[in-house]
Amino acid sequence: MTMSIIAGEWANFLIRWVHVIAGIAWIGSSFYFVHLDLSLRKHDKLAAGVGGEAWQVHGGGFYNMVKYMVAPPHLPKELTWFKWEAYATWISGMAMLIVMYYAQADLYLIDRTVLDISPAAAVAISVAGLVLGWVVYDLMCKSPLGRNDALLGAVGFALLVALSYGFTKVFSGRGAYIQIGAMIGTIMVASVAMTIIPNQRKIVDSLLKGETPDPRLGAAGKQRSVHNNYLTLPVVFLMISNHYPLAFASRWNWVIIALVVVIGVSVRHFYNSRHAHKPSPWWTWAVAAAAMLAIIGLSALGPANVQGAANAATPVVQKVAFADVQDIVISRCSMCHAAEPGWDGIGVAPKGVMLDTPERIKLHATEIYLQSVATHAMPPGGNLTEISDDDRRVIAAWVEGGAHVP
Ligand code: HEC
Repeated sequence: MTMSIIAGEWANFLIRWVHVIAGIAWIGSSFYFVHLDLSLRKHDKLAAGVGGEAWQVHGGGFYNMVKYMVAPPHLPKELTWFKWEAYATWISGMAMLIVMYYAQADLYLIDRTVLDISPAAAVAISVAGLVLGWVVYDLMCKSPLGRNDALLGAVGFALLVALSYGFTKVFSGRGAYIQIGAMIGTIMVASVAMTIIPNQRKIVDSLLKGETPDPRLGAAGKQRSVHNNYLTLPVVFLMISNHYPLAFASRWNWVIIALVVVIGVSVRHFYNSRHAHKPSPWWTWAVAAAAMLAIIGLSALGPANVQGAANAATPVVQKVAFADVQDIVISRCSMCHAAEPGWDGIGVAPKGVMLDTPERIKLHATEIYLQSVATHAMPPGGNLTEISDDDRRVIAAWVEGGAHVP
């Protein structure tokens, strides 16, 4: 193996490692502060300017947290700012988007049977989407719509569903999922960088000048941070979805995104209500469960982007010889999925999946079925190696017959 392949694989792995750690730190602090905010209690012995107090116990000590609603009367010498968790998550996420989806757009972002576009066009569309997503969201929050949380949420949800539909008609299912995930993630980080932190700085500045800060600055930051809190669960789903083709590569992939948002928001609503010591809205779990069942049902309705009625998931082939299956897999899959892949740009077998011997083909029978029969996620790029529907049926019949190898 050449050094550049090894370096490339490790770069990818390291960026992913950093991204997950930064994401955990960011989501953790976001969950923590929303919880803290909701659990603050008022009583008459609070100091001037304090809006509420909470007692917490962790790691062998007791913490007495108080929140100054706009700002404390005197600015403390040391302040901890929470922003690098968010920035590091975005920077590492963008790095991964570039290394995988932009540098190998043919494999990851584009499905030429969905839309036959050049890698440059695909990257341009993706970047434009990231920028515009933030611009539109920001304008919406600042417009009169931003004063009505319920309406803002409904309009935002409708836009998101429209975008999900749109992007599944431009990119591969995998690409569309990562695009929507990256757009939401960019909105969340941009809120931190462009609204939450600058507003906080303005508050600090006016305190230093001895003025009373404008409470609207803090309120705007708070609104964004609540949005971020509700968006975390769907974003994490989208980020890990690329290993699960039943989500991104099944026919109703865009509806699945909408349902995932419903699940994520319902579950957050449950915890947020509970942490605020309101009656627990147990119904949210029924909503989440119903949406999850709907997702599972939808994912069984066949692959995305199949022309005509041809659905390889219904085997017409009765009995198949393993030799036929092996021929198909060797000729359509193993140029990438082999100990030494022959495909340009593929250095090591993707995800360690090698499909070059009968034993390895048998070992991966279920995954082969999920990737190339139940969905058409593989071969990638819109069937780059041109597997036929009949070939998919042969694989289907073999797996459904017990995936035997002589
Ligand atoms: C042009 C190269 C190429 C061809 C041909 C190809 N694959 Fe893949 N395959 C990939 C890449 C790239 C990934 C990694 C996707 C990712 O990063 O999530 C992958 C991932 C997989 C995975 C693992 C998915 C996961 O997330 O763990 C399976 C299983 C798989 N392919 C099966 C197949 C089958 C079956 C065929 C033939 C019908 C096939 N592939 C043809 C490039 C290819």
